[in-house]
Amino acid sequence: MKKILKWTGFIILSLIAGVTIIAASRQNVKYTAPYPAIKASTDEAVIARGKHLVFSIAHCADCHSTANADSLIQSGLDVPLSGGRLFALPIANIYTKNITPDKETGIGKYTDAEIARALRYGVHPDGTVMYDFMPFHNVCDEDMTAVISYLRTQKPVRNKVPPHSLNVAGKMIKAFMISPVGPSESIPQKVRPDTTALYGRYLVNSLGNCSGCHSKHDMKGAIVGEAFAGGSPMKKAENLPAYTPPNLTTDSSSRIFEWTRDMFIKRFRMGNIKNSEMPWNSFKRMTDDELTAIYKYLKTLKAAKTATAA
Ligand code: HEC
Ligand code: HEC
Repeated sequence: MKKILKWTGFIILSLIAGVTIIAASRQNVKYTAPYPAIKASTDEAVIARGKHLVFSIAHCADCHSTANADSLIQSGLDVPLSGGRLFALPIANIYTKNITPDKETGIGKYTDAEIARALRYGVHPDGTVMYDFMPFHNVCDEDMTAVISYLRTQKPVRNKVPPHSLNVAGKMIKAFMISPVGPSESIPQKVRPDTTALYGRYLVNSLGNCSGCHSKHDMKGAIVGEAFAGGSPMKKAENLPAYTPPNLTTDSSSRIFEWTRDMFIKRFRMGNIKNSEMPWNSFKRMTDDELTAIYKYLKTLKAAKTATAA
């Protein structure tokens, strides 16, 4: 009996050691993905389009600046995208990158195609996997060009962001469960901005990531239940209350069930009145046409009852 116990113990220990070694060796697995044929432009209209996307629907500033930049975003200022915001997850501390053109600490050392590949295919310039925080995999070529063109015009800011730190569970998940996320549909050359639900769908799903918060997700990030049927409670900072992203579908339990288009636009113009995690201060910079398109798209969603608390 004792012998069996001894051997079982030995086998279990060896297995754990084996898995740990494999997990360690898989932390920097290199992936391949195509380089999109994207080239930054110096055309003023293209740069202006990029800047508008960056500071409104795509809310880059909300993540790629530190939390106290929020009041600056609120007052309409263009904060530097010098990174450093911490996402303290149970399995890892993830820091957003410096995406100003600084050559040492920012994206100055990357080519346009490398940046476009990171955003579209979820592969860092060095080939390692990107954690899927950003929803831009299906952004059309023209808007990808516009965003990168704007990034190139920023003043370089030297800001060395700390490297991510993962605990044991985080390393296991990275080693065995996370792989690059790429486009889910074919990428159009251009998506024409208008006030249709179709354009709203593009803004919501390819740029705004509304469903990222307004849906429930499993550990791998896949949606549980219906998309937009309400998310999980979240707080912007430790000392602030948690709010649950409400149902945005056409069900009678939807927060916007009775909202008219005008009420919807008015709510966005008010900004972050509750100091919630929703990037209202970026979103409020959207035009009436953009908000109309989003409203129309949400009104095409299948009715789904609000998901029960996770
Ligand atoms: C919800 C938060 C969030 C938003 C919004 C966001 N980012 Fe990110 N971004 C991150 C995080 C977190 C990382 C680090 C991911 C990693 O290292 O795996 C990152 C990484 C990047 C990288 C890779 C940089 C490098 O050095 O490898 C680029 C480029 C980038 N973001 C650009 C953008 C742009 C442009 C926008 C807006 C169009 C944007 N991000 C919006 C969170 C965000
Ligand atoms: C980072 C998470 C996050 C993202 C991204 C996000 N939301 Fe929210 N949203 C929330 C939270 C949390 C609340 C509840 C607290 C509040 O009202 O500010 C909320 C509330 C709302 C409300 C109800 C506001 C009210 O006054 O009752 C609407 C409408 C809404 N979101 C629409 C959207 C749309 C449209 C998008 C995409 C363009 C979006 N949200 C993206 C987190 C998010």
